[in-house]
Amino acid sequence: MNTKVYTIKDPSSPQGEDLKMIAECGEIIKRGGLVAFPTETVYGLGGDALNEDSSGKIYAAKGRPSDNPLIVHICELSAIEKIARDIPEEAYILARKFWPGPLTMILKSSGVVPLKTTGGLDTVAIRMPSDKVALEFIKASGGYVAAPSANISGRPSPTKACYVLEDMDGRIDAVIDGGDNAIGLESTIIDLTEDSMQVLRPGYITNEMLSEALGRDIETDPALLDPTRKERPKAPGMRYRHYAPKGEVHPVKGDADKVFEHIREELTKAKGDNKKTGVFCSKDNAGKYDADVIRCAGSLDDAETAAHHFYSALRDMDDENVDIIFVENFTERGFGEAFWNRLLKSAGSEWEDA
Ligand code: TXA
Ligand code: MG
Repeated sequence: MNTKVYTIKDPSSPQGEDLKMIAECGEIIKRGGLVAFPTETVYGLGGDALNEDSSGKIYAAKGRPSDNPLIVHICELSAIEKIARDIPEEAYILARKFWPGPLTMILKSSGVVPLKTTGGLDTVAIRMPSDKVALEFIKASGGYVAAPSANISGRPSPTKACYVLEDMDGRIDAVIDGGDNAIGLESTIIDLTEDSMQVLRPGYITNEMLSEALGRDIETDPALLDPTRKERPKAPGMRYRHYAPKGEVHPVKGDADKVFEHIREELTKAKGDNKKTGVFCSKDNAGKYDADVIRCAGSLDDAETAAHHFYSALRDMDDENVDIIFVENFTERGFGEAFWNRLLKSAGSEWEDA
């Protein structure tokens, strides 16, 4: 299969030629094909959510187990009434506050979305992205686009069209290139099918933001916070080792000075063992490490910039065949919870203290 690339000239406000290209991509989806597209979080691998053959093709293209359900992307609020049932008031409160945006809600399925899309579950994950190209594309596709992140299963989610092509060239019909994703980390997932209303995957919309909107305490699925617990994470996708580069990832916790010294010592040891080394660090320290590959974000208290650059840093480390990657102690507060969740998954849940 030849994967066609459609490059959008003005992703912030697609018009004219851009809309024509998006319409063509919508036709591909309606015919049962697959198109990767930008969202504000990461690139999605889109297919018709209401067509089970399309969902089958998505699982095959990603190499993903078919019991791991797909998120249905919509472009208008009324769409939830077709695909969900017994919708609680909270869903409307959150939709009004955070949609379009990086929030996915799990609701009871009306049965309209095939079981192949929901991974056999009687619930359905729904998100209305805010990216303008994504919204136009969903509209052109008929309003219901199933889309996991557009990476091969186990690879970091793609945050640029070139990363989608690294994984998907020849496996899908087309890619819409809408530039870099604004956030760079997958959406927050909240489960509204149970009274506890837990967050199943942390993201840009934090527990504090959700708690404030709903006027009650919203907590994260405890299985995510402590991987040694017996219960498994409720979102099937959070059970797999994920986001993993080929090299070992070593997050280092502690005071900034100690972390810096610790990483310098570990780099010397790793070099002595003939390992290829990498560091993901704050902007200020980028020039101070002796490592083969250095990728930096902003300051240590800036989770947004760290999250934005994290997946591309992991991909670069893979391209350079880095054996061991040290990560400085970026903040765990606010959006930092989501950053640390992905960081620890890439590290197999381990960190070290400086
Ligand atoms: O930001 C995002 O959400 C991106 C963009 C493309 O929208 N999509 C994304 O999809 O991250 P994916 O497939 O990589 O992750 C979806 C997660 C998986 O962990 C999956 O198990 C979970 O959502 N999920 C989907 N439906 C579910 C359901 N009914 N119940 C529980 N978890 C569900
Ligand atoms: Mg994914």
